Amino acid sequence: MEKLALLYAGKAKEVYRTNDPECVIIYFRDTATALNGQKQGTIADKGMINNLISAHFFTLLANHGLDTHYLRTISPREMLVKTLEIIKVEVVVRNIVAGSLITRLGYPEGTPLATPILEYYYKDDALGDPLVNNDHLAALNLATAAELNAITLASHKINNILTRHLAEKNLLLVDFKLEFGRHQGQIILGDEISPDTCRFWDINSGEKLDKDRFRRDLGGVSEAYHEILRRLTGGNSSVQG
Ligand code: C5P
Repeated sequence: MEKLALLYAGKAKEVYRTNDPECVIIYFRDTATALNGQKQGTIADKGMINNLISAHFFTLLANHGLDTHYLRTISPREMLVKTLEIIKVEVVVRNIVAGSLITRLGYPEGTPLATPILEYYYKDDALGDPLVNNDHLAALNLATAAELNAITLASHKINNILTRHLAEKNLLLVDFKLEFGRHQGQIILGDEISPDTCRFWDINSGEKLDKDRFRRDLGGVSEAYHEILRRLTGGNSSVQG
């Protein structure tokens, strides 16, 4: 697979064209941003760790019959994925109160939710990714009713699979963000699943092992990312050439 021109450079990832129009290469960077870009920095080894953790989760989901864009890991910081037509919606799934839900509803951090909450955000940096509902997405033609249904079903299924898997590693899946796209007429999961896009707490101590350590200046940021990789792969994450 030949790596060609840079298609897109985001805050934490770069996307490159390949000689196959159906595939692109994602390169994971160590750069980190928070608070809608107001806070910037780097997290040592983050690109490598997020690449390997995302590959781990995408493989897990594929083993449970879920379509994702992941094809294979091609280097410590790069994965080959299917080309997607991105749907401009971020899906957040919440199991426990944290982050923006505290600000919005005033419930204390750590409050368990009786059932998972699914939220949609319109993906637009300039607007700060505003919260929207099904009607906004349908009325603005961002996704069809059938696509939204597929996204909702997949998001709940992904939550169940990840929650169970992480519990085996003594981790609580507090909340996470997903992005979906269209590929050959199908809705499939894209983007990444990593400590950048999920909140992971240690089941026993409640210690935060995710990007909140960076957002809230808690220290030990890179160590937390390494700890998640270690618990998930036992240090045996394989990189196929
Ligand atoms: O900030 P908030 O509490 O809404 O975030 C919910 C979850 O979605 C967190 O796990 C966060 O890491 C993730 N998220 C993300 N990218 C965004 C917004 C939220 O990965 N742009």
